[in-house]
Amino acid sequence: MSDEKSFHMTPDEFRRHGHAVVDWIADYQSRIESFPVLSQVKPGQIRAALPANPPAHGEPFDALLQDVEQLILPGVTHWQSPNFFAYFPCNASGPGILGDLLSSGLGVQGMLWSTSPACTELETQVMDWLVGMLGLPAKFLSTNTGGGVIQDTASSAVLCALLAARERATEGSSNKKGGNGRLVAYASTQTHSSLEKAAMIAGIGTDNLRLIEVDANFAMKPEALGQQVEADRLAGLTPCFVCATVGTTSSNAMDPVDKIAEACRKHNLWLHVDAAMSGTAMVCPEFRHFQRGVEGADSYNFNPHKWMGANFDCSCFWVADRKALIQTLSILPEYLRNQATESGAVIDYRDWHIQLGRRFRSLKLWFVIRHYGVEGLQHNVREHVRLAQEFAAWITEDDRFDLAAPVPLNLVCFRHKGGDAANQAIMDRLNQSGDLYLTHTKLNGKLTLRLSVGQMNTQARHVEKAWSRIKQETAMLGTTS
Ligand SMILES: Cc1ncc(COP(=O)(O)O)c(C=O)c1O
Repeated sequence: MSDEKSFHMTPDEFRRHGHAVVDWIADYQSRIESFPVLSQVKPGQIRAALPANPPAHGEPFDALLQDVEQLILPGVTHWQSPNFFAYFPCNASGPGILGDLLSSGLGVQGMLWSTSPACTELETQVMDWLVGMLGLPAKFLSTNTGGGVIQDTASSAVLCALLAARERATEGSSNKKGGNGRLVAYASTQTHSSLEKAAMIAGIGTDNLRLIEVDANFAMKPEALGQQVEADRLAGLTPCFVCATVGTTSSNAMDPVDKIAEACRKHNLWLHVDAAMSGTAMVCPEFRHFQRGVEGADSYNFNPHKWMGANFDCSCFWVADRKALIQTLSILPEYLRNQATESGAVIDYRDWHIQLGRRFRSLKLWFVIRHYGVEGLQHNVREHVRLAQEFAAWITEDDRFDLAAPVPLNLVCFRHKGGDAANQAIMDRLNQSGDLYLTHTKLNGKLTLRLSVGQMNTQARHVEKAWSRIKQETAMLGTTS
């Protein structure tokens, strides 16, 4: 059969093209500051430059890479630019990229322990490491009653937590009979929108999602939570789940986990802690007070793809009682039966999340942790927090601006005193310039600018330049652009 025509890339061709791709990525990293951070293309522009039809015959690899440079790059918003201050960060570090490449190269689908034991066991070990690294309670360890699993996103994690809470509250009957419309879930008004989506998917219903009021610092009021739970009980409903956030998306507010945990204990509610971005800061013991009371959580989630450098997607999710999660999500069709599963001696992560198939995500996380070490990860966090605090001080000292929320870590929410239109104008002009990228939120109904310091390569000079550009655009207010 050796003379049969093959369309495949040979290992030697793969090696050559692979080197070219790695070179291209390294060059991209070196020249990243030369690109406008926010892509400047118009809707439809990238598609219009692409051929209407796929190629009938394979093309040389060089042509592909050339098209990435010419056709694709203009439509890329450069999340890896050190001048990226928008949303929350989404870091792709060197070790993360290489770990992900190896995962692709191995091409493993790790749905069961037996479909690649290393995929499961490395994940279990790295997740156990992280319990210690983040100061999480020992009950989350796989060697204890709990355990961790890598999900794609925080959205999936909160959905799994809500499903497990639903089953615990209904003793498994929701899975069998469907929802009864009486379960209630709670979070603050500042909770990420993924919980609303989870309530829709889990059959809780958005009418049964209570958004609890927040204090002046945008943190959930635990007494308001208690009152609402009691009112719902009296109304014959079944409260079952609370989501506390350590670092809300809008303003990085810290919900009082300890007091919320107390209410959850009292009312027997599942407590999920969403630390999507700020969880990474817990590698530094001095920031762990922001999650005081986490010992009372039933589940916890943070995204190493945000601030830790383990390329998207990588979202770590722990439960204190793995049985509750597995009983919620496990089904075993004949074609997946195997001896290892039957022995009860292994973890099959397919039972720990929504989808069946799974990538070898722990490789990139393992590479990141081993490359930086705890010391390196702590350094990154401390440096970003220092830079954000410095920026916040500049805002405070400038009487044209106000800080719009406390700055516990690396997100600065601020606004020009000129009102929404002035803030919108400053942001639009900065983003159109391509020099930096920042985004907004609304706090107390007012448009608020957010400067999120978290891109791995952001240094003092980038934050200084951002402030200088903000001041320049502020000086231009009222003049024509
Ligand atoms: C606090 C918080 N929770 C959840 C999410 C949702 O993240 P994901 O994209 O991983 O679903 C975010 C996203 O920024 C977030 O900030």
